[in-house]
Amino acid sequence: MKIIAGNWKMNGSVGALGEMTGRLAAVKTKNKVILCVPYTMLGVKSNKVVNIGAQDISVHNRGAYTGEVSGAMLAEMGVKYVLVGHSERRMYHDETNDIVRAKAERALENGITPIICVGETLDEKRAGKTLKIIETEVRESVPEEVRGNIIVAYEPRWAIGAGLTPTAQEIADAHKSIADTLSYMGLDGTPILYGASVNENNVGDIVSIKNVSGVLVGVASLKSDEFIPIIKNAK
Ligand code: 13P
Repeated sequence: MKIIAGNWKMNGSVGALGEMTGRLAAVKTKNKVILCVPYTMLGVKSNKVVNIGAQDISVHNRGAYTGEVSGAMLAEMGVKYVLVGHSERRMYHDETNDIVRAKAERALENGITPIICVGETLDEKRAGKTLKIIETEVRESVPEEVRGNIIVAYEPRWAIGAGLTPTAQEIADAHKSIADTLSYMGLDGTPILYGASVNENNVGDIVSIKNVSGVLVGVASLKSDEFIPIIKNAK
């Protein structure tokens, strides 16, 4: 069983998601499928194949925080998964590891599985700092006490939306480093997803790499003609 998560980012519509979930309902798969969508689409129901998840969660529980959505509000919508610390949140909204960890804590408190994203920039990669960066991000972004389930996603920032992927060896090294760090934190067995430029042609090879539990898919999760073959080819 692999985990195939899609991230719609700020794309799609209620209608498009309804069509997607309808098509996914007919897919025969043992994989766990998650689609993380904008808040406005969370009313679209999950079904036996796909779980609808969110892309962000507030660090606050309630109160005067205009525009924020709390963990309790997500739970009320039936949300079981939420992305935290996606590189686009870290980059455009200055989310630090401390903020990401607080968000993951709020998710866990509300019975929601956080998908905690980590990954290096191109400059960090060029400087040979990839493993150091992702180890620090995991140590500082994952809550110390995990009551419930977490998922970690490794997304090399330079490869997102770029049609680029690291080599199999680079993915293996990154995932081993994350698995070792999680093990040190007492979190053996935490699923670790790979994300960035995943498509129906490369997904089979990627999920066969050691310590890769599944994938986090951006643009190729938007169209059922691309997303369904990814689900089928991930084994
Ligand atoms: P792409 O699959 O479009 O590269 O996006 C990856 C991503 O950011 C998923 O969260």
